[in-house]
Amino acid sequence: MRQSKIKRFPIQPGTGGSLRRLPAVPVVAIVGATGAVGAEMVACLEQRYFPLSALRLYASARSAGKTMSFIGDEIPVEELSEASFAGVDVALFSASATVSRHFAPIAAREGAVVVDNSSAFRMDPAVPLVVPEVNAETIAGHGGIIANPNCVVIIAAVALWPIHRKNRIRRLTLTTYQAASGAGAAAMEELRESTRAYLDGRAYANRVLPHDYAFNLFSHNTSIDRETGYNGEETKVMNETRKIFGDPELRITATCVRVPVLRAHAMSLSLECEQPIDPDEVRSILDDAPGVRVVDDVANNRFPMPKDASGQGDVLVGRIRRDASDPTGRSVMMFAAGDQLLKGAALNAVQIAEQLMPRPKARPAAAVPLVERMGVL
Ligand SMILES: NC(=O)c1ccc[n+]([C@@H]2O[C@H](COP(=O)([O-])OP(=O)(O)OC[C@H]3O[C@@H](n4cnc5c(N)ncnc54)[C@H](OP(=O)(O)O)[C@@H]3O)[C@@H](O)[C@H]2O)c1
Repeated sequence: MRQSKIKRFPIQPGTGGSLRRLPAVPVVAIVGATGAVGAEMVACLEQRYFPLSALRLYASARSAGKTMSFIGDEIPVEELSEASFAGVDVALFSASATVSRHFAPIAAREGAVVVDNSSAFRMDPAVPLVVPEVNAETIAGHGGIIANPNCVVIIAAVALWPIHRKNRIRRLTLTTYQAASGAGAAAMEELRESTRAYLDGRAYANRVLPHDYAFNLFSHNTSIDRETGYNGEETKVMNETRKIFGDPELRITATCVRVPVLRAHAMSLSLECEQPIDPDEVRSILDDAPGVRVVDDVANNRFPMPKDASGQGDVLVGRIRRDASDPTGRSVMMFAAGDQLLKGAALNAVQIAEQLMPRPKARPAAAVPLVERMGVL
Protein backbone atom coordinates (compact mmCIF):
# COMPACT_ATOMS: atom_id res chain seq x y z
CA MET A 1 0.00 0.00 0.00
CA ARG A 2 1.20 3.51 -0.78
CA GLN A 3 2.63 5.41 2.21
CA SER A 4 0.70 8.69 2.24
CA LYS A 5 2.51 11.98 2.38
CA ILE A 6 1.07 13.93 5.28
CA LYS A 7 1.36 17.67 5.57
CA ARG A 8 2.33 18.78 9.06
CA PHE A 9 1.47 21.99 10.89
CA PRO A 10 4.64 23.89 11.66
CA ILE A 11 5.22 24.03 15.41
CA GLN A 12 7.00 27.25 16.29
CA PRO A 13 9.75 26.34 18.74
CA GLY A 14 9.44 28.60 21.77
CA THR A 15 12.95 28.00 23.00
CA GLY A 16 14.39 26.69 19.75
CA GLY A 17 16.78 23.79 19.42
CA SER A 18 16.56 20.48 21.19
CA LEU A 19 14.19 19.32 23.88
CA ARG A 20 14.68 20.84 27.32
CA ARG A 21 14.48 17.83 29.63
CA LEU A 22 13.52 17.64 33.31
CA PRO A 23 15.95 16.79 36.09
CA ALA A 24 16.19 13.07 36.94
CA VAL A 25 13.91 13.41 39.99
CA PRO A 26 11.82 16.52 39.35
CA VAL A 27 9.53 18.45 41.67
CA VAL A 28 6.01 17.89 40.31
CA ALA A 29 2.96 20.08 40.92
CA ILE A 30 -0.66 19.26 40.11
CA VAL A 31 -3.03 22.20 39.74
CA GLY A 32 -6.64 21.08 40.24
CA ALA A 33 -5.51 18.01 42.19
CA THR A 34 -8.90 17.49 43.89
CA GLY A 35 -10.84 17.33 40.59
CA ALA A 36 -11.88 14.29 38.55
CA VAL A 37 -8.75 14.53 36.35
CA GLY A 38 -6.40 15.77 39.09
CA ALA A 39 -7.12 12.77 41.32
CA GLU A 40 -6.31 10.46 38.38
CA MET A 41 -3.05 12.35 37.80
CA VAL A 42 -1.99 11.60 41.38
CA ALA A 43 -2.90 7.92 40.83
CA CYS A 44 -1.08 7.75 37.46
CA LEU A 45 2.13 9.19 38.93
CA GLU A 46 1.99 6.56 41.66
CA GLN A 47 1.06 3.61 39.43
CA ARG A 48 3.66 4.44 36.79
CA TYR A 49 6.45 4.94 39.38
CA PHE A 50 7.05 8.43 38.03
CA PRO A 51 10.37 9.47 39.61
CA LEU A 52 9.96 12.66 41.62
CA SER A 53 11.55 14.37 44.60
CA ALA A 54 8.36 16.13 45.77
CA LEU A 55 4.70 16.31 44.80
CA ARG A 56 2.82 19.55 45.42
CA LEU A 57 -0.96 19.59 45.19
CA TYR A 58 -2.93 22.74 44.44
CA ALA A 59 -6.64 23.52 44.17
CA SER A 60 -8.98 26.37 45.09
CA ALA A 61 -9.35 27.85 48.57
CA ARG A 62 -12.26 25.44 49.07
CA SER A 63 -9.87 22.49 49.24
CA ALA A 64 -7.02 24.04 51.22
CA GLY A 65 -6.34 21.84 54.22
CA LYS A 66 -7.56 18.60 52.63
CA THR A 67 -5.02 15.83 52.09
CA MET A 68 -4.58 13.29 49.30
CA SER A 69 -2.63 10.05 49.62
CA PHE A 70 0.38 9.34 47.45
CA ILE A 71 2.57 6.25 47.97
CA GLY A 72 1.50 5.96 51.59
CA ASP A 73 1.95 9.66 52.41
CA GLU A 74 -0.84 12.15 53.08
CA ILE A 75 0.01 15.23 51.02
CA PRO A 76 -1.69 18.52 51.94
CA VAL A 77 -3.68 20.35 49.26
CA GLU A 78 -2.75 24.03 49.15
CA GLU A 79 -4.57 27.01 47.71
CA LEU A 80 -3.10 27.93 44.32
CA SER A 81 -1.29 31.27 44.24
CA GLU A 82 1.24 33.04 42.05
CA ALA A 83 3.96 31.91 44.48
CA SER A 84 3.08 28.22 44.06
CA PHE A 85 5.62 27.41 41.33
CA ALA A 86 8.97 28.31 42.92
CA GLY A 87 11.20 25.25 42.52
CA VAL A 88 8.63 23.29 40.48
CA ASP A 89 10.07 21.45 37.45
CA VAL A 90 6.85 20.20 35.87
CA ALA A 91 3.31 21.41 36.54
CA LEU A 92 0.32 19.34 35.41
CA PHE A 93 -2.63 21.74 35.10
CA SER A 94 -6.18 20.44 35.37
CA ALA A 95 -8.38 23.20 36.74
CA SER A 96 -10.03 25.39 34.10
CA ALA A 97 -9.05 27.40 31.03
CA THR A 98 -9.33 30.60 33.10
CA VAL A 99 -6.96 29.26 35.77
CA SER A 100 -4.54 28.03 33.08
CA ARG A 101 -4.55 31.32 31.18
CA HIS A 102 -3.53 33.18 34.32
CA PHE A 103 -1.23 30.72 36.10
CA ALA A 104 0.41 28.61 33.33
CA PRO A 105 2.55 31.51 31.99
CA ILE A 106 3.56 32.31 35.59
CA ALA A 107 4.61 28.68 36.14
CA ALA A 108 6.54 28.67 32.84
CA ARG A 109 8.31 31.93 33.77
CA GLU A 110 9.34 30.32 37.08
CA GLY A 111 11.06 27.58 35.02
CA ALA A 112 8.43 24.82 35.18
CA VAL A 113 7.30 22.94 32.09
CA VAL A 114 3.50 23.11 32.07
CA VAL A 115 1.37 20.27 30.69
CA ASP A 116 -2.06 21.87 30.42
CA ASN A 117 -5.31 19.91 30.27
CA SER A 118 -7.56 22.86 29.57
CA SER A 119 -8.47 24.29 26.18
CA ALA A 120 -6.57 27.55 26.89
CA PHE A 121 -3.51 27.00 24.65
CA ARG A 122 -4.42 24.04 22.45
CA MET A 123 -4.83 25.92 19.19
CA ASP A 124 -1.93 28.34 19.83
CA PRO A 125 0.46 27.60 16.93
CA ALA A 126 3.43 28.04 19.27
CA VAL A 127 2.17 25.38 21.69
CA PRO A 128 2.58 21.67 20.88
CA LEU A 129 -0.68 19.72 21.17
CA VAL A 130 0.45 16.23 21.99
CA VAL A 131 -0.71 12.63 21.96
CA PRO A 132 2.58 10.76 22.51
CA GLU A 133 1.54 7.82 20.29
CA VAL A 134 0.97 10.28 17.42
CA ASN A 135 3.24 13.33 17.56
CA ALA A 136 5.66 13.03 20.50
CA GLU A 137 8.32 14.69 18.33
CA THR A 138 6.48 18.04 18.49
CA ILE A 139 7.23 18.27 22.23
CA ALA A 140 10.75 19.41 21.32
CA GLY A 141 9.29 22.72 20.12
CA HIS A 142 7.76 23.66 23.45
CA GLY A 143 8.35 27.06 24.97
CA GLY A 144 7.34 26.13 28.51
CA ILE A 145 3.74 25.07 27.83
CA ILE A 146 2.55 21.83 26.22
CA ALA A 147 -1.17 21.26 25.66
CA ASN A 148 -3.06 18.05 26.36
CA PRO A 149 -5.81 17.68 23.74
CA ASN A 150 -9.56 17.36 24.29
CA CYS A 151 -10.50 13.93 25.67
CA VAL A 152 -12.51 12.81 22.61
CA VAL A 153 -9.66 13.88 20.37
CA ILE A 154 -7.06 11.84 22.26
CA ILE A 155 -9.16 8.66 22.18
CA ALA A 156 -10.00 9.07 18.50
CA ALA A 157 -6.41 9.98 17.56
CA VAL A 158 -4.94 6.87 19.20
CA ALA A 159 -7.36 4.70 17.19
CA LEU A 160 -7.11 6.59 13.88
CA TRP A 161 -3.46 7.61 13.57
CA PRO A 162 -2.07 4.12 12.79
CA ILE A 163 -4.54 3.92 9.88
CA HIS A 164 -3.97 7.52 8.76
CA ARG A 165 -0.19 7.11 8.55
CA LYS A 166 -0.55 4.05 6.29
CA ASN A 167 -3.48 5.16 4.15
CA ARG A 168 -4.40 8.80 4.66
CA ILE A 169 -7.89 9.38 6.04
CA ARG A 170 -9.33 12.10 3.87
CA ARG A 171 -12.78 12.30 5.46
CA LEU A 172 -13.93 11.43 8.97
CA THR A 173 -17.38 11.43 10.58
CA LEU A 174 -17.24 11.12 14.35
CA THR A 175 -20.23 10.74 16.70
CA THR A 176 -19.72 10.59 20.45
CA TYR A 177 -21.45 9.06 23.46
CA GLN A 178 -19.81 11.06 26.25
CA ALA A 179 -19.83 10.16 29.92
CA ALA A 180 -20.56 12.37 32.94
CA SER A 181 -16.91 12.23 34.03
CA GLY A 182 -15.99 14.38 31.03
CA ALA A 183 -17.74 17.27 32.77
CA GLY A 184 -15.89 16.77 36.04
CA ALA A 185 -16.52 15.40 39.53
CA ALA A 186 -19.68 17.49 40.08
CA ALA A 187 -21.35 16.11 36.90
CA MET A 188 -20.62 12.54 38.03
CA GLU A 189 -22.34 13.35 41.32
CA GLU A 190 -25.26 14.87 39.42
CA LEU A 191 -25.72 11.65 37.44
CA ARG A 192 -25.66 9.55 40.65
CA GLU A 193 -28.05 11.85 42.54
CA SER A 194 -30.49 12.40 39.68
CA THR A 195 -30.65 8.65 38.98
CA ARG A 196 -31.42 7.94 42.66
CA ALA A 197 -34.08 10.66 42.64
CA TYR A 198 -35.63 9.32 39.41
CA LEU A 199 -35.84 5.77 40.80
CA ASP A 200 -37.34 7.08 44.07
CA GLY A 201 -39.86 9.19 42.13
CA ARG A 202 -38.46 12.42 43.59
CA ALA A 203 -37.97 15.68 41.69
CA TYR A 204 -34.37 16.66 41.02
CA ALA A 205 -33.12 20.15 40.16
CA ASN A 206 -30.04 20.07 37.86
CA ARG A 207 -27.05 21.99 39.17
CA VAL A 208 -24.27 21.19 36.70
CA LEU A 209 -25.71 20.10 33.35
CA PRO A 210 -28.51 21.90 31.52
CA HIS A 211 -30.94 18.99 31.10
CA ASP A 212 -32.31 15.98 32.99
CA TYR A 213 -29.51 13.44 32.96
CA ALA A 214 -31.01 10.27 34.45
CA PHE A 215 -32.34 7.95 31.71
CA ASN A 216 -31.83 10.69 29.12
CA LEU A 217 -29.21 11.96 26.69
CA PHE A 218 -28.65 15.34 25.08
CA SER A 219 -26.53 17.30 22.64
CA HIS A 220 -23.20 18.25 24.29
CA ASN A 221 -23.58 21.03 26.84
CA THR A 222 -21.13 23.45 25.18
CA SER A 223 -22.65 26.43 23.40
CA ILE A 224 -23.51 26.39 19.70
CA ASP A 225 -21.74 28.64 17.23
CA ARG A 226 -24.65 30.35 15.42
CA GLU A 227 -22.69 30.62 12.18
CA THR A 228 -21.45 27.02 11.85
CA GLY A 229 -24.12 25.18 13.88
CA TYR A 230 -21.42 23.17 15.67
CA ASN A 231 -21.11 23.20 19.46
CA GLY A 232 -17.86 23.96 21.28
CA GLU A 233 -16.93 20.31 21.80
CA GLU A 234 -17.48 19.46 18.12
CA THR A 235 -15.37 22.43 17.06
CA LYS A 236 -12.54 21.32 19.36
CA VAL A 237 -12.70 17.79 17.96
CA MET A 238 -12.43 19.02 14.37
CA ASN A 239 -9.69 21.64 14.91
CA GLU A 240 -7.53 19.70 17.35
CA THR A 241 -7.54 16.48 15.29
CA ARG A 242 -6.28 18.41 12.26
CA LYS A 243 -3.52 20.04 14.33
CA ILE A 244 -2.34 16.77 15.96
CA PHE A 245 -2.33 14.90 12.65
CA GLY A 246 -0.55 17.86 11.04
CA ASP A 247 -3.13 17.59 8.29
CA PRO A 248 -5.10 20.83 7.79
CA GLU A 249 -6.85 19.33 4.75
CA LEU A 250 -8.49 16.50 6.75
CA ARG A 251 -12.25 16.73 6.19
CA ILE A 252 -13.90 16.04 9.51
CA THR A 253 -17.35 16.47 11.00
CA ALA A 254 -18.50 15.67 14.53
CA THR A 255 -21.68 15.27 16.57
CA CYS A 256 -21.06 15.23 20.32
CA VAL A 257 -23.67 13.84 22.70
CA ARG A 258 -23.72 13.48 26.48
CA VAL A 259 -25.06 10.08 27.63
CA PRO A 260 -25.90 8.89 31.17
CA VAL A 261 -22.74 6.82 31.59
CA LEU A 262 -20.62 7.56 34.63
CA ARG A 263 -17.17 7.11 33.15
CA ALA A 264 -15.45 6.55 29.76
CA HIS A 265 -16.46 7.97 26.39
CA ALA A 266 -17.54 5.91 23.39
CA MET A 267 -17.63 7.00 19.75
CA SER A 268 -18.56 5.91 16.27
CA LEU A 269 -15.85 6.58 13.69
CA SER A 270 -16.61 6.51 10.00
CA LEU A 271 -13.56 7.06 7.82
CA GLU A 272 -12.84 7.36 4.14
CA CYS A 273 -9.22 6.69 3.13
CA GLU A 274 -7.36 7.79 0.00
CA GLN A 275 -6.78 4.19 -1.12
CA PRO A 276 -9.07 1.16 -0.84
CA ILE A 277 -8.94 -0.46 2.60
CA ASP A 278 -10.64 -3.51 4.07
CA PRO A 279 -11.68 -4.35 7.62
CA ASP A 280 -9.09 -7.14 8.04
CA GLU A 281 -6.33 -4.72 7.12
CA VAL A 282 -7.63 -2.22 9.69
CA ARG A 283 -7.79 -4.97 12.32
CA SER A 284 -4.21 -5.98 11.63
CA ILE A 285 -2.98 -2.35 11.72
CA LEU A 286 -4.73 -1.81 15.05
CA ASP A 287 -3.49 -5.12 16.51
CA ASP A 288 0.03 -3.67 16.36
CA ALA A 289 -0.87 -0.10 17.35
CA PRO A 290 0.42 1.31 20.65
CA GLY A 291 -2.33 2.16 23.15
CA VAL A 292 -5.02 0.25 21.22
CA ARG A 293 -6.80 -3.00 22.14
CA VAL A 294 -8.99 -4.55 19.47
CA VAL A 295 -12.28 -5.80 20.96
CA ASP A 296 -14.15 -7.25 18.01
CA ASP A 297 -15.88 -10.41 19.23
CA VAL A 298 -18.54 -10.86 16.56
CA ALA A 299 -19.63 -14.33 17.79
CA ASN A 300 -20.55 -12.97 21.21
CA ASN A 301 -21.63 -9.53 20.02
CA ARG A 302 -19.05 -8.01 22.37
CA PHE A 303 -17.50 -4.75 21.31
CA PRO A 304 -15.99 -1.69 23.07
CA MET A 305 -18.06 -0.58 26.06
CA PRO A 306 -17.46 2.25 28.55
CA LYS A 307 -17.72 -0.30 31.37
CA ASP A 308 -14.79 -2.29 29.95
CA ALA A 309 -12.80 0.84 29.06
CA SER A 310 -13.11 2.35 32.57
CA GLY A 311 -9.85 2.23 34.47
CA GLN A 312 -7.93 1.10 31.35
CA GLY A 313 -5.11 2.98 29.67
CA ASP A 314 -5.82 1.44 26.26
CA VAL A 315 -8.41 2.64 23.78
CA LEU A 316 -10.76 -0.22 22.86
CA VAL A 317 -11.66 -0.48 19.16
CA GLY A 318 -14.08 -2.85 17.42
CA ARG A 319 -17.12 -3.19 15.14
CA ILE A 320 -14.63 -2.78 12.31
CA ARG A 321 -16.64 -3.15 9.12
CA ARG A 322 -16.86 -1.97 5.56
CA ASP A 323 -19.01 1.14 5.09
CA ALA A 324 -21.77 -0.14 2.82
CA SER A 325 -22.53 3.37 1.59
CA ASP A 326 -19.17 3.66 -0.22
CA PRO A 327 -18.94 1.41 -3.31
CA THR A 328 -15.26 2.37 -3.88
CA GLY A 329 -14.04 0.27 -0.91
CA ARG A 330 -12.23 3.23 0.67
CA SER A 331 -14.43 3.54 3.76
CA VAL A 332 -14.69 1.64 7.02
CA MET A 333 -16.67 2.16 10.19
CA MET A 334 -15.62 1.34 13.73
CA PHE A 335 -16.61 1.91 17.34
CA ALA A 336 -14.22 2.93 20.12
CA ALA A 337 -14.34 3.45 23.87
CA GLY A 338 -11.70 5.00 26.11
CA ASP A 339 -11.39 6.18 29.68
CA GLN A 340 -11.27 9.90 29.11
CA LEU A 341 -10.14 10.59 32.70
CA LEU A 342 -7.10 8.39 32.00
CA LYS A 343 -5.95 8.30 28.36
CA GLY A 344 -8.23 11.23 27.56
CA ALA A 345 -6.65 13.40 30.26
CA ALA A 346 -4.47 12.33 33.23
CA LEU A 347 -2.56 9.45 31.65
CA ASN A 348 -1.83 11.37 28.46
CA ALA A 349 -0.49 14.29 30.55
CA VAL A 350 1.75 11.99 32.59
CA GLN A 351 2.96 10.29 29.39
CA ILE A 352 3.92 13.73 28.05
CA ALA A 353 5.84 14.41 31.28
CA GLU A 354 7.57 11.04 30.85
CA GLN A 355 8.73 12.15 27.41
CA LEU A 356 10.48 15.08 29.13
CA MET A 357 12.46 12.84 31.47
CA PRO A 358 16.17 12.36 30.81
CA ARG A 359 16.86 9.38 28.56
CA PRO A 360 19.12 6.68 30.02
CA LYS A 361 22.60 7.03 28.56
CA ALA A 362 23.30 4.50 25.79
CA ARG A 363 25.89 1.94 26.80
CA PRO A 364 28.66 1.22 24.27
CA ALA A 365 27.91 -2.05 22.45
CA ALA A 366 30.84 -3.81 24.12
CA ALA A 367 29.34 -3.11 27.55
CA VAL A 368 26.02 -4.74 26.61
CA PRO A 369 25.97 -8.49 27.45
CA LEU A 370 25.92 -10.65 24.32
CA VAL A 371 22.55 -12.25 25.19
CA GLU A 372 20.98 -8.77 25.32
CA ARG A 373 22.59 -7.77 22.01
CA MET A 374 21.18 -10.92 20.42
CA GLY A 375 17.72 -10.00 21.72
CA VAL A 376 17.59 -13.02 24.06
CA LEU A 377 16.65 -10.85 27.03
N1 LIG B 1 -12.99 15.47 32.94
C1 LIG B 1 -12.38 15.15 31.85
O1 LIG B 1 -12.55 14.04 31.32
C2 LIG B 1 -11.43 16.08 31.18
C3 LIG B 1 -10.75 15.60 30.06
C4 LIG B 1 -9.85 16.45 29.42
C5 LIG B 1 -9.67 17.72 29.92
N2 LIG B 1 -10.35 18.16 31.00
C6 LIG B 1 -10.09 19.50 31.48
O2 LIG B 1 -9.39 19.37 32.72
C7 LIG B 1 -9.78 20.43 33.58
C8 LIG B 1 -10.33 19.85 34.88
O3 LIG B 1 -11.43 19.02 34.62
P1 LIG B 1 -12.11 18.11 35.74
O4 LIG B 1 -13.09 17.31 35.00
O5 LIG B 1 -11.10 17.44 36.58
O6 LIG B 1 -12.89 19.23 36.61
P2 LIG B 1 -13.35 19.16 38.14
O7 LIG B 1 -13.62 17.77 38.59
O8 LIG B 1 -14.45 20.16 38.26
O9 LIG B 1 -12.08 19.70 38.95
C9 LIG B 1 -11.65 21.03 38.87
C10 LIG B 1 -10.40 21.22 39.71
O10 LIG B 1 -9.94 22.57 39.55
C11 LIG B 1 -9.82 23.18 40.82
N3 LIG B 1 -10.09 24.61 40.72
C12 LIG B 1 -11.25 25.22 40.38
N4 LIG B 1 -11.09 26.57 40.45
C13 LIG B 1 -9.81 26.78 40.85
C14 LIG B 1 -9.05 27.94 41.12
N5 LIG B 1 -9.56 29.18 41.00
N6 LIG B 1 -7.78 27.80 41.53
C15 LIG B 1 -7.24 26.57 41.67
N7 LIG B 1 -7.91 25.42 41.43
C16 LIG B 1 -9.18 25.54 41.03
C17 LIG B 1 -10.84 22.46 41.67
O11 LIG B 1 -10.52 22.67 43.04
P3 LIG B 1 -11.65 22.57 44.20
O12 LIG B 1 -11.87 21.08 44.42
O13 LIG B 1 -10.98 23.21 45.34
O14 LIG B 1 -12.85 23.26 43.69
C18 LIG B 1 -10.63 21.03 41.19
O15 LIG B 1 -9.46 20.49 41.79
C19 LIG B 1 -10.77 21.28 32.79
O16 LIG B 1 -10.07 22.31 32.13
C20 LIG B 1 -11.33 20.29 31.78
O17 LIG B 1 -11.82 20.94 30.63
C21 LIG B 1 -11.22 17.35 31.64
